Amino acid sequence: MQVGIDKMAFATTDEYVDLRELARTRGDEPDKYTIGIGQDQQAVVPPTQDIVTLGARAAAKLLTAEDKRHLSTIIVATESGIDNSKASAIYIKHLLGLDDFVRAVELKEACYSGTAGVQFAKGLVTMNPQSTVLVIAADIARYGLATPGEVTQGAGAVAMLISTNPRVLSLEDTSVSYTKDVMDFWRPLYATEAHVDGKYSTNVYIEFFLQCWQRYQQITGHQLADFAALTFHLPFTKMGKKALEGLLQADQSAVAETLRSQLTASQIYSRKVGNLYTGSLYLGLMSLLQNGTVNAGDRIGLFSYGSGAEGEFYTGIVQPQFKKYLNDVADDLGARQRVSVGQYEQEFNAQLGLNQADIAFDLSNDHETFVLAGQKNHQRI
Ligand code: HMG
Repeated sequence: MQVGIDKMAFATTDEYVDLRELARTRGDEPDKYTIGIGQDQQAVVPPTQDIVTLGARAAAKLLTAEDKRHLSTIIVATESGIDNSKASAIYIKHLLGLDDFVRAVELKEACYSGTAGVQFAKGLVTMNPQSTVLVIAADIARYGLATPGEVTQGAGAVAMLISTNPRVLSLEDTSVSYTKDVMDFWRPLYATEAHVDGKYSTNVYIEFFLQCWQRYQQITGHQLADFAALTFHLPFTKMGKKALEGLLQADQSAVAETLRSQLTASQIYSRKVGNLYTGSLYLGLMSLLQNGTVNAGDRIGLFSYGSGAEGEFYTGIVQPQFKKYLNDVADDLGARQRVSVGQYEQEFNAQLGLNQADIAFDLSNDHETFVLAGQKNHQRI
């Protein structure tokens, strides 16, 4: 029985800041941001958007009335939780108008939990093949104004429908997880921005990738030539390059060159949005499928990484007609509005913070279907 990703959709905010402008404002060389880090634009998050509105938007792009009838479970993977107890999945379930006989839960392990969501969904669908599971990976990546991590911020959500006879990517059985207690990036309960040991985190990421890959090879005997492309969690696009080159080690063969050019295709959207945390690997997959040279039957390798830290390498086979089951990301990104660095800073500081029992946001600039209107009696509206 084939189980995997049947449909995918992405949503981000309608505003972005240009990173060359941000570099100049911060007194940095623009090439450091666009070449050294590999980011061109970054999603700007108005106070009226959060993981619930972004997640609901992504899911609404792919769910038909027929899909809703088969849905057993909704899993939201995030590290930008809006409540220590109540799952964001329940708010999203409500906004999407889903049946009350649907299970709704939130998962956490930094950027990795989107992949945990996909694997758990695969298990649920395998046990009950008539049902489908909606996995949403939604996050707002915040490091703070004028910090080294600022250039790697981002926001957005990827929604995926997991089913039998999937029409995008059929998941293969072998996956390798690798977990260690590591302090490379974390966010204590009282913090609205992440703490990070940036350079260390990039080294841990590469080490975890190589560990997973070596074990995967031992188990399956597969070689690089068995892959049409490798896709990576992309906290910033240069990270994918560092990981791939860590594996290729200056290999100039035709196989290595193909993997390099497919990596470039997988980075196109992340360059314009930034880190999505849980959703970054899956936005990279969408970018590869829409911009790379991928054909039905090709094997794709996916490396998921979450700080703290956990890595997983797994694979899928591309299905015929896969392009029909993805939303047009390039179109959505092209429709966004550029805002100044000053406007971005103002919106960054206006995010709903702690200790605000009552607040009402100005909704006149947000025309989306789903908006965060504010908070009353400590309850989100
Ligand atoms: P930094 O110290 O500002 O940057 O922080 P740098 O000085 O290391 O420079 C970055 C690169 O730009 C270097 O290239 C420079 O040579 C180059 P590299 O040696 O890395 O190849 N450079 C230039 N290139 C062209 N023209 C120039 C120029 N100047 C310099 N003029 C850092 C960089 C990534 C550490 C920082 O942005 C950061 O802390 N980011 C956040 C942490 C992060 O993203 N880590 C990634 C791995 S961990 C992960 O993926 C998990 C995560 O997503 C969270 C989760 O799991 O939830 C983060």
